[in-house]
Amino acid sequence: MKGWLAMAAVALVPVVAATVGAFEEKAPSIKSVMAKLHKGSKAQFAVLKAQAESPTPDWDAIGKTTKDFVILGAALGKNDPPKGDKESWKTQANKYFQNSKALDDAAQAKDLAALQSARKSMGESCKSCHNVHRGK
Ligand code: HEC
Repeated sequence: MKGWLAMAAVALVPVVAATVGAFEEKAPSIKSVMAKLHKGSKAQFAVLKAQAESPTPDWDAIGKTTKDFVILGAALGKNDPPKGDKESWKTQANKYFQNSKALDDAAQAKDLAALQSARKSMGESCKSCHNVHRGK
C-alpha cells in the first residue's frame, strides 16, 4: 500500500506542477501572439484565409482557428506595449479582442459574410496599432 501511494504521489507531482504552472504562467507575450497569429503563411490568419476561401468551408476547423484568436487576442491586453502609452494600448488591444470575437461569433454562426467582414476589419487594424505601439 505504501509503495503504491509513493508511486501515485510521484506520478501526480508533474501533473500538479503543470496545472499550477498554467495558472502562474504569465500571459503569452505580444510578440509570440503576433507570431502565432500573423507572421507569415503558416500563421493562423493565413490558415483562416484559406479555410474561409475554401469552396466547402469546414466550420469545425474554422471554429478551432477563431478560438485561437479569442484566446491569444485576450492575452494582448494583459501585456504592456513595447512602445506608446498604456491607455492607448488598452483601447487597441480591446479592439483586437473585439475583432477576434467577431471572427469567432461568425464561425459559431457559420456565417461566411460575417466571417469575411471580420477578417477585413482585422486585416485593416494592423497599421494603426503598429504605428503607435510597435517598437523600432
Ligand atoms: C493591438 C495592436 C496590434 C494589432 C491590431 C496588430 N499588431 Fe502586430 N504587433 C503589435 C506589437 C506591439 C508588436 C511588437 C511586439 C514586440 O516586438 O514586442 C507586433 C508585432 C508584429 C509582428 C512581428 C512578430 C515577431 O515575431 O516579431 C508581426 C508579423 C505582426 N505584428 C503582424 C500583424 C498583422 C499582420 C496584424 C493585422 C492583421 C497585426 N500585427 C495587428 C501590435 C499589434
